[in-house]
Amino acid sequence: MPLVPPYIDALSPYVAGRNPEEVAREYGLSRVFKLASNENPLGASPMALENLARHLDALHRYPAGGDELRRVLAETYDVKPDNVIVGSGSEAIMANIIRTFLCDDDEVLTAESTFIGFQVLARSRGVAYRTVPYTDWRYNLPALAAAVTDRTKIIYLANPNNPTGTIFTRQEFDEFYRHIPERVLIILDEAYFEYARDNPRYPDSMHYRYDNVITLRTFSKAYGLAGLRIGYGFAHEELIRNLMKVKLPFEPGTLAAAAGIGALHDAEFLHRSLECNARGLRFLTQNFRGLGLTVVDSWANFVMLVMESEAQADSIVETQLRNGVIIRPLRAFGLPHCVRVSVGTEEASQLCVRVMREALLAPAL
Ligand SMILES: Cc1ncc(COP(=O)(O)O)c(C=O)c1O
Repeated sequence: MPLVPPYIDALSPYVAGRNPEEVAREYGLSRVFKLASNENPLGASPMALENLARHLDALHRYPAGGDELRRVLAETYDVKPDNVIVGSGSEAIMANIIRTFLCDDDEVLTAESTFIGFQVLARSRGVAYRTVPYTDWRYNLPALAAAVTDRTKIIYLANPNNPTGTIFTRQEFDEFYRHIPERVLIILDEAYFEYARDNPRYPDSMHYRYDNVITLRTFSKAYGLAGLRIGYGFAHEELIRNLMKVKLPFEPGTLAAAAGIGALHDAEFLHRSLECNARGLRFLTQNFRGLGLTVVDSWANFVMLVMESEAQADSIVETQLRNGVIIRPLRAFGLPHCVRVSVGTEEASQLCVRVMREALLAPAL
């Protein structure tokens, strides 16, 4: 018997966006902008950092498992703490969901080329991972509903979706939900919900609760806390109770939980983040379209570009790197002819557009 199960052997590890220091060294650059990981260009929420600093003297103690953050989240969203789970990023909660609910013969269903973090987690459990193609870069919810089998245990939906930035509407979700058996758990990954919530068609899942739906959200994006690892989820208390059996007892760390509480009070930073993102999204979308590129309409903090070929996508990623901009190639997502560009500071977005313009005019740049 091999030591490593075949489904682990066959896995490719998650490849994160490249880090600026390494790119600066490799290309001999003094300044590099990272537009590859959908991070907040304004930095972290100041109130998150203030509350974090207040907890530095408690680092010799084990954390309280995020109890206080659960309470504050419950108050903020008008649910009970028993309906809330917190973890080291929403990905950690995804990992717990997979460990808690999946048995060997179950299958997971989602769209093709969706958030790769989920894909890696699901495949590492060794269960069947089935996908349905996009339609116009959007989830095809009727096709997903039709693809449910007796073995389907989890359906994963990211809304807005990564890497496309597209959303499905409330009406589409309601119709979809009517066709899903109650024994199927639906993960609604709303990592980017703050950016989409003002769209009246967006189905903010906290406005209605179903017993077999778990909502996942994060402080990594709109609150700028990606490096701390803090996310949260809402679900029926029975689901949460079972997840709590599996969760590492001391997750999340003290500082991450404190920062989450501070962030929830930081309406001013959230407002600034959303304004900056809306401006940046408009700027990137209009300018890339002005260059004749195909840009998918996005409700998140990034845009996806559909290039003419894999070679053009590879070449644009390389040219941007050489000019100090890291963008995300989407080969690992299964979209080798696409790239994803996160909204950055004005300076970074302008540089990215300028490099794109020059690269398209003179492909050998
Ligand atoms: C759709 C989606 N879900 C979850 C995450 C991960 O969030 P977290 O940092 O909370 O683990 C990301 C990060 O890029 C994402 O794009």
